[in-house]
Amino acid sequence: MRLFAAIPMPDPARGALLDLLATLTPTGWPVRWVGEENLHLTVKFYGEAPEEDVTRLADGLAAAVRGTGVLPMQLNGVNAFPALRRPRVIWAAVAAPPALELMQHRVEQEAASVGFPSEGKPFRPHVTLGRLKSGASLPPSASDMLEQLVLDVTFEASRVVLFESRLSREGARHTPRLTLDLDRGGNA
Ligand code: 2AM
Repeated sequence: MRLFAAIPMPDPARGALLDLLATLTPTGWPVRWVGEENLHLTVKFYGEAPEEDVTRLADGLAAAVRGTGVLPMQLNGVNAFPALRRPRVIWAAVAAPPALELMQHRVEQEAASVGFPSEGKPFRPHVTLGRLKSGASLPPSASDMLEQLVLDVTFEASRVVLFESRLSREGARHTPRLTLDLDRGGNA
């Protein structure tokens, strides 16, 4: 199955992102906007994993997350991959303490020990808001608008979830397989 680990957006971040999407969706841009249940910060994308690896991946994720307390975070702007002037993926930027990067590094190490190596990309904490439809592009005025959007919300992240992802014509559906609390102690 297709697996990834992510921090689902709690309120007030979630509410702010929904407000932002309510501003963006009426633009009519050729973008597949993310559904409200898919607003998350991806910590690790494992990709396709055989059933027999799932328990070891889940145990590794739990070990990597253990000891990380609740993470104070901030949504602090809108940006795009590969660049704001050439948007393919539109996302909200997340500022987080070093503990997030340390945790993410441990998650990578645990995954690598089960045979799921790092994608080799630098970790850029973000919440994807929308993806350009294939072959489509946005006018320069869209980048101007994205640049002017104000997003400044502080929140506390308290959960990491291992999601199973199913792709369908209607988009991706993510089902939680394991929920871990960020409480410095044990697991949920
Ligand atoms: P994202 O973090 O930019 O949103 C499920 O597909 C989640 O895993 C998405 O949120 C997605 O991107 C993230 N992800 C990271 N690397 C991926 C990859 N190579 N293929 C698909 N999704 C990936």
